[in-house]
Amino acid sequence: MRLNLDIDENTPIQQIYSDSFKKRNLFISIKRDDQLHPLLSGNKWRKLKYNLLEMQRLGKTELVTFGGAFSNHIYACAAAGKLFNIQTHGIIRGPHLDSNNPTLQFAAQYGMQLKAVTRLEYKKRHDHDYLAKLQQRFPNAYILPEGGTNQAAIPGCKELAESLPDHDYLICPTGSGGTLAGLIEGRKTSTEILGIAVLKQAEYLINEIKALSPKACQQTNWQLLTQFHDGGYGKFSAQLWQFCKQMQSEYQLPLEPIYSGKMMYALWQLIEQDYFPSGSKIIAVHTGGLQGLSGLEYLKRI
Ligand SMILES: Cc1ncc(COP(=O)(O)O)c(C=O)c1O
Repeated sequence: MRLNLDIDENTPIQQIYSDSFKKRNLFISIKRDDQLHPLLSGNKWRKLKYNLLEMQRLGKTELVTFGGAFSNHIYACAAAGKLFNIQTHGIIRGPHLDSNNPTLQFAAQYGMQLKAVTRLEYKKRHDHDYLAKLQQRFPNAYILPEGGTNQAAIPGCKELAESLPDHDYLICPTGSGGTLAGLIEGRKTSTEILGIAVLKQAEYLINEIKALSPKACQQTNWQLLTQFHDGGYGKFSAQLWQFCKQMQSEYQLPLEPIYSGKMMYALWQLIEQDYFPSGSKIIAVHTGGLQGLSGLEYLKRI
């Protein structure tokens, strides 16, 4: 198998202007990685790229991965399967597959074999014995963890950080920590890197990030901010969703409230709290995931 992973990663950087930034002398821009590819957006591609190369190196021809029913990762893996001619298998946190769920519909259309498992079985997704049995069941498969975060996810996110112009603060949403770990790897210590945890009680991620990034162990130029979860993973307040809509109408910046919107809302609050010194150049990474909006519409949550 020879993969042609020729995807243009040179996404635009959008400047955002407001009186509040002007008054504080702050320069805010957004790395529009949501525009990376219509189906392989943002950090999903950044994390997949070197995993696909690793899969090729190992001579594997299929991909097995895990996700919730509305997962951006499942969506992106199914799309990658179609684009690069890889048979994909999605193990979905069940207990049932809802055939009307737009993410799962997309994944099935793009050739992913879906299997719902009970929540109890899903909990075993990191267990050594469970994964060994799965490998026996799919001997030709490369097994990719939920969210696409592992050691091979790091270089793609590092490349994103290296591609950016000079700035003082870099900010991203954090779920499993892979993206933040890669950004830490790719920046000099003069940049302060902030991960906005999108889930509750996320302090445990600090050790996971350190396990993924040697620089995160040695350097102090990064932080995981855990106070902006807005109720927990997948939860969001009416104010947060209102903020997302306002960003769309004022700046033509599309956001969803689970990752990118939560991060931008946190950034706005930090600005209002005068967290950033005058003159700071701040880049926020839009990590994509806009497909999630159709799931929220389907669930009538927006
Ligand atoms: C759109 C989007 N942004 C951010 C994240 C969080 O990234 P990470 O899990 O690498 O912390 C995810 C989940 O992977 C995501 O789907």
